[in-house]
Amino acid sequence: MNIGRLEWSDHLRIGVGQLDDGHKELIDLYNRIVWLCGNSATLSDLRERIRSFVNYGRHHFREEEEYMIEVHYPDYISHKLEHDRLLQDAEDFIDNLGGSLQLSDSEAVLKYFRYWLLRHIATDDKKLKDFNVAFGGMNATPAANPANGN
Ligand SMILES: [Fe+2]
Ligand SMILES: [Fe+2]
Repeated sequence: MNIGRLEWSDHLRIGVGQLDDGHKELIDLYNRIVWLCGNSATLSDLRERIRSFVNYGRHHFREEEEYMIEVHYPDYISHKLEHDRLLQDAEDFIDNLGGSLQLSDSEAVLKYFRYWLLRHIATDDKKLKDFNVAFGGMNATPAANPANGN
């Protein structure tokens, strides 16, 4: 199998410490699945690692949504809908593997979650980054946020 680890790099940075830390943690959890697939994974280990990854994704999305509310992010609703869609899609993917998950499915699992994670960071989270750059991100207190008319 030639699907390698993911490495954190600057182009993934959103510029909000808590959210960047969340993305780093997701990459780390993804890499644990990669490691397992290359080191004689058992099916129960693989299921457990996938579950940890998705559970942490859910936690990260919630933190990101709280942050978006805090800074009055204008695309909050569409971004949250995308989070909901991603979680549902991941759950459906896991359900489809269901009891029939085989170790030979490892490559498909890795490809799926790699795309799942990187595409979202590079599209929706990137827009959040652009907003932060324009309006000051965590420094955008309600009083300083143009959305409030101040
Ligand atoms: Fe997001
Ligand atoms: Fe994110």
